[in-house]
This record gives sequence, C-alpha cells and structure tokens, in this order.
Amino acid sequence: MRFGIRTLDDVDVQGKVVLCRVDINQPVDRESGKLKSINRIRACVPTIRELSDKGAKLVLMAHQGSDIEYQNFYATKPHAEVLTELLGRKVNWIDDVCGPAAREAIRSLKDGEILLLDNVRFVAEEQTLFERKLCLSHEAQAKTLLPQKLAPLADLYICDAFAAAHRDQPSLCGFEQILPSAMGRLFEKEYCTVSSVMEEPKRPCVFILGGAKIADAFEMMNTVLSRGIADTILTGGLVANIFLIGLGRAIGEGSRAFIEKSGYAEFFEKAAELYRRYGDRIVLPQDLAWVQDGKRQETSVGEMPEDCAAVDIGCKTAEDYRQRILGAKTVFINGPMGVFEKTASEYGTKMIWQALADTAGFTVLGGGDSIAATEKYGLTEQMGYICTGGGALIRFLSGEELPVVRALKHGSQIPMEKDGKEK
Ligand code: 3PG
Repeated sequence: MRFGIRTLDDVDVQGKVVLCRVDINQPVDRESGKLKSINRIRACVPTIRELSDKGAKLVLMAHQGSDIEYQNFYATKPHAEVLTELLGRKVNWIDDVCGPAAREAIRSLKDGEILLLDNVRFVAEEQTLFERKLCLSHEAQAKTLLPQKLAPLADLYICDAFAAAHRDQPSLCGFEQILPSAMGRLFEKEYCTVSSVMEEPKRPCVFILGGAKIADAFEMMNTVLSRGIADTILTGGLVANIFLIGLGRAIGEGSRAFIEKSGYAEFFEKAAELYRRYGDRIVLPQDLAWVQDGKRQETSVGEMPEDCAAVDIGCKTAEDYRQRILGAKTVFINGPMGVFEKTASEYGTKMIWQALADTAGFTVLGGGDSIAATEKYGLTEQMGYICTGGGALIRFLSGEELPVVRALKHGSQIPMEKDGKEK
C-alpha cells in the first residue's frame, strides 16, 4: 500500500475479472473524427500490459470528451485501435458500456484478454458536470447503473485515471464501495510524485499560472499562498490579464471584453483581493504583446492602445520570469503565457518553456495546453515530471483530497473476497 491505497503489487489478478478505469480522453479533430494526440493512451500502457501479462481478464472503462463543454464526445473505438498498436496485442472493443452485449463480452473474456468498453459518458450519470449538478455520495454512486451492472461480474477494480481523479462520478468513485480496489501504475506514479513535491517542496518554490482554467487557478492560488507552499506565483495568459484589470491597469478593451464574454468578470474583484493579501508573492507582467495587422507589438502595461487585446507577455516580463525560474528549486506550471499556437504570440511561452528546460530545479507540468507546448518545442525529455492531468493537478494542488483518492482508500480496505488471495 502507498498512501493507504493498494498498488498492483498488493493484488493477485491471475484469472480474475479486473475492471480498470483509465483516462484516455484525447483531443479529437472534429472534421475527421481522428485523435489529435495519443499521449494519455500511451501513458496507460504499462498498467494494461502488466495486468494482461499477469493473466487478468481485463475490462477497460474510459471516457472521451463530453457533450457539455468540449464538443469532443465520441466513441472509444479509435482508442482501442491505438492501444492494439501500442501493446502489440489485440484490444477488443464493443459499442456498449454496461448493457447485455457488454456483459456477455466480459463473461467471454479469457485470461490475459483485453476489452475496452464504449465511452462511459454515454451513460448519462457520468456526464462531466455530474458532480456539480447532482453531487451524489460515493455510496449513492455505487447504486447507479454502471456499478450495479458491471461490479457483479468483476473481482477487482483498478483506477489508473489520475487525470480524472477530480471527477466525482460512478466509474471513478462508485466501484470502490463494492469491489476491492487498487491504483494502477500511472496513478501511483502521478499521485506519489505530486504528493511528495507538495509535501516538502524545495525552496524557492515557484508556481507559474497561465491558461484559461480560471476558477481552479484562483482556488489553487489562494491555497498555495495561504499555506506558504508557493514562494512566488508568476502569472501569464488570462490569469495575468484578470489581475491587471482587477487592479485597474489598462490592458486594452479587447482583453476586458474577452474575459467578460468568457464569464470571468467576477474574478476581477477576487484577483484584487488576493493581490491585496499576497501581492508581495504574486508577480504580474510588466509588458504585454498584442497583434496588429498580423504583426507582434509590445508595450508596457498601462500603455496599451484601447482597442487591442493582450495575447502574450512581453519580452521584459519573459526575461524576468526566466531568471526567476532559473533560480527556483521547484517549479509547478499550468497553462501557457499566451496564444502560443500562433507565431506572433508564442514568444513568452517559448521563452518560459526553454527556461523550464534549463533550470536545475524540479519542474512539474500539467494540462493539455502545457503538454502541447512542451511537445511543440521538443522539450519533453527535459521536464522533471509531466502529469497527464490538468484539472486534477490543479485541484490536487488546491489542497483538496481528490474524490478518487478518497474512494480508492475506501476500496483498498475491502478484502479480496473470492479467494482471499491478497498478497
Ligand atoms: C481531462 O481532460 O482533464 C480529464 O480527462 C477529465 O476530463 P473532463 O474535464 O471532461 O472531466
């Protein structure tokens, strides 16, 4: 056990039906329906291979997107094809989640065989906003369709989906009420790495926050500042723009309009309040960039033309941040400094990412955009730790116990009933 949760070293899976929840949620090209990345699929391979090698009858459960927020809500068939290729062994797929066809396919599995079920979010209770709309207890989640239909067929539940560990949904938190449970290798690696860095971060500990997950970012800032975890927070992207506007600095009407349109206007006041309390540790950009007629322009904060919108931090800010990153012993980063996908607005992100690669400090990076930037600049090998989770990492760093961690601790106490062969 690690952190009160069983690992794969604590369970015997030979000949057992193992339900394994993975996070292989990937960006999808809307026109072709093809996966744009296979990062997370690749990251799950060690657990899947180990379970199959050890003779489990392996049933994989996964979500792909959601119809609420991201419009990338698809079947998991392409994921099975990618897994088949990565593993070099067949991963069967079925267009059913927990109906009679899925259950029959599970019953027919032989030792070592792998079956991926269709998108668990096709079962309505699994929708992304489930936790916020209905907020069922884990006991109640165990009584919903998915656990009720699948748990009776299984001996063990394994969660390898750290990237979804902040979601309070039956496929993630319901099974641990019924089945003996354990975490997979990826979950173990991610959870243990971020836990140990959080417990005793080497100082100075610098957080870099950009990107657009605003509510989570503000909650996290509050926690890491009030608990003394962060020595400094460097801000970029929308996070920085919200601070600057909240403090009354002029950064172009376009910046304000975008934030208001995105529904984040309430954060202007929150940012100003946070800055009043912890301004000595929050670093804001001194200059910003915008694009005019396709060309990058830069100026000091407060001197930006009214009709423009900030799309990146400026060169002076990038240099200041670079020096701070080089002097840090621990760096957490979530979110780019601007619109790094476009040449005219990628300078800040590129500089910061290069500094992350150059620093001797330990770097922990998470979130889809951050991973995309790392790949774009070819720096994957030079990062300390790349977490598959974005939202989960932020939520974890906010100091909250993740729902899946809580559920796994519960499931780790349930004995391996069928033959009592717990190692
Ligand atoms: C993610 O992409 O962060 C995880 O797969 C969780 O997905 P969700 O945000 O749609 O719940």
